[in-house]
Amino acid sequence: MSFPIHRYRRLRANAGILRMVRETSLSTDDLIEPMFVCEGKGVRQEISSMPGIARCSLDELLKDVRETQSLGIPAIILFGIPDKKDSRGSEAYNPDGIVQRAVREVKSAFPDMVVITDVCIDEYTDHGHCGLVEGNKILNDATLELLSKMAETHARAGADIVAPSDMMDGRVQAIRKTLDETSHEDTIILSYAAKYASGFYGPFREAADSSPKFGDRCSYQMDPGNSDESLREVFQDIEEGADIVMVKPALSYLDIIRRVRQEVQVPVAAYSVSGEYAMVKAAAERDWVDGERVMLEILLSIKRAGAQMILTYFAREAAKILNA
Ligand code: PBG
Repeated sequence: MSFPIHRYRRLRANAGILRMVRETSLSTDDLIEPMFVCEGKGVRQEISSMPGIARCSLDELLKDVRETQSLGIPAIILFGIPDKKDSRGSEAYNPDGIVQRAVREVKSAFPDMVVITDVCIDEYTDHGHCGLVEGNKILNDATLELLSKMAETHARAGADIVAPSDMMDGRVQAIRKTLDETSHEDTIILSYAAKYASGFYGPFREAADSSPKFGDRCSYQMDPGNSDESLREVFQDIEEGADIVMVKPALSYLDIIRRVRQEVQVPVAAYSVSGEYAMVKAAAERDWVDGERVMLEILLSIKRAGAQMILTYFAREAAKILNA
């Protein structure tokens, strides 16, 4: 491989050659758009730490979904912001809860849109934890029943995919069992398999008003120092019935995405989270970086690392550029 026989610049000579030899490219098919839905009518409440992203009431949400669909984005993931929260997160598994109603309306207006739901009670609990709480303890097994009920109400409303993000042990098995017993054997499970205890979730917690009121999530989400453990989580979730596994966050965990991709034969998703979005937006606002360019570069890096699908708040913005 020595100079002057080999000159790597030959294959960088012009745009046509670059296109021909490019190993990875981004497509709208790769994108999944997260959306926040709240009660009310005509509500479109911007999230201050996520410029361009809002919590929307159902009527407004449908307008966004129309645009998302017209841009060719195949899927959305819904997060609910209920009016009432309690210690058991009852609204999470209310068959007429905000997400359940949103799923029904989105699927009836846009049957081809793939609708994913986040299965986790933290947006619905007054303590903000992803599991039931006893004293200072987050209960694992007792939470599984609530998660299963929640997933079943989502499936019954018409969700194509349920995505447990709570990080309780055994939840994929519990959800799969409940779905199968209730004739939802075709509902897909996308598990947040390797979900790290991350500072990058900050803006999301503002959006969903879901910061834990005491303690933190370190007893259930993964330690950022661990890599082997992500494979144990992923293998276990697949064994329990996960159809798709996810790594979250994405940008600081590209090595994990890569490792998981190399080890498993199921599709791998990555969640480019709220803090990753906020950092780019904040720097671009100050003209410190070219926002569009770094957005596309980050999304491409996540795909290059091995993710076949990317959950990103940039979905529509990126799709507009990719379609142009
Ligand atoms: C939990 C959940 C969280 C996110 C997605 N699902 C928050 C958390 O674990 O605190 C974060 C997503 C983001 O930051 O964009 N329901």
